[in-house]
Amino acid sequence: MSQEAVQRSAEALIHAWGARRPRVAVVLGSGWSGMVQGLLDAVDVPYADLPAFPPLGIAGHSACVRLARLAQSSTEVMLLMGRQHAYETGDATAMRGAVRTVAAVGCPIIVVTNAAGSLRAQWPSGSLMALSDHLNLVQRSPLQGWGGSDRFVDMGQAYDPDLRRAAQGAAAGLGVALHEGVYAWMMGPQFETPAEIRMLQRLGADAVGMSTVPETIAARHAGLRVLAISLMTNMAAGMGVERLSHEQTLKAAALHEAQAAKVLHSILSAITI
Ligand code: HPA
Repeated sequence: MSQEAVQRSAEALIHAWGARRPRVAVVLGSGWSGMVQGLLDAVDVPYADLPAFPPLGIAGHSACVRLARLAQSSTEVMLLMGRQHAYETGDATAMRGAVRTVAAVGCPIIVVTNAAGSLRAQWPSGSLMALSDHLNLVQRSPLQGWGGSDRFVDMGQAYDPDLRRAAQGAAAGLGVALHEGVYAWMMGPQFETPAEIRMLQRLGADAVGMSTVPETIAARHAGLRVLAISLMTNMAAGMGVERLSHEQTLKAAALHEAQAAKVLHSILSAITI
């Protein structure tokens, strides 16, 4: 993926949008697609028409960029509907071009959403967590292979404190708990072993998942402000009674989709004021 592909993708989007521009971008993870309800004036551009964007990922995602307005605040949002995970190809750069395109169209903020396993007994399936930080135990980066000294990105405050504060205010306004914690990225696609989960707990993780971290690193490199939110879809391996599977994740995600959507709409309105 070249910078030229990013430029061509940005031009294609701007052509489709006319004078409209997004104030915030959202990467939609499992359990978050309910937020497409209640959006106005949607314009879709398929990833296939955007050379910096990845080919279609796993089933359940329709791969397109949607520009739309939030009904409650008229905020213009750019939805990245469909992500390629690093576990699909072993390539942590999978979403780099898409994230850089967000910056190239002049959008300053990206909200990265995901489904995650909970490492906190008191945070059951359906709980929401804003990332305060992450653990990149995979030790891969979307910046491997990138030149220049700007690749040495400061990750001291990867998840923007002001955006997190605004998100807390929005969730509180709805009476919904938005926890804060550390997300551990595991490559997958297999779920973790109970021993791995005990290790992650000792290392300070509160949630575990297979996405988000490469996107956050690429976004910080591109100069975007980042907010990331996990929807817990299960207790992590060894902590609950259920057998972990992709079907179980999708089922739990569907159960909590409406609530997650409501909170996300409110957060998007709050952070773009
Ligand atoms: N582990 C990793 N990724 C996940 C999980 C999990 O338990 N649940 C949802 N995504």
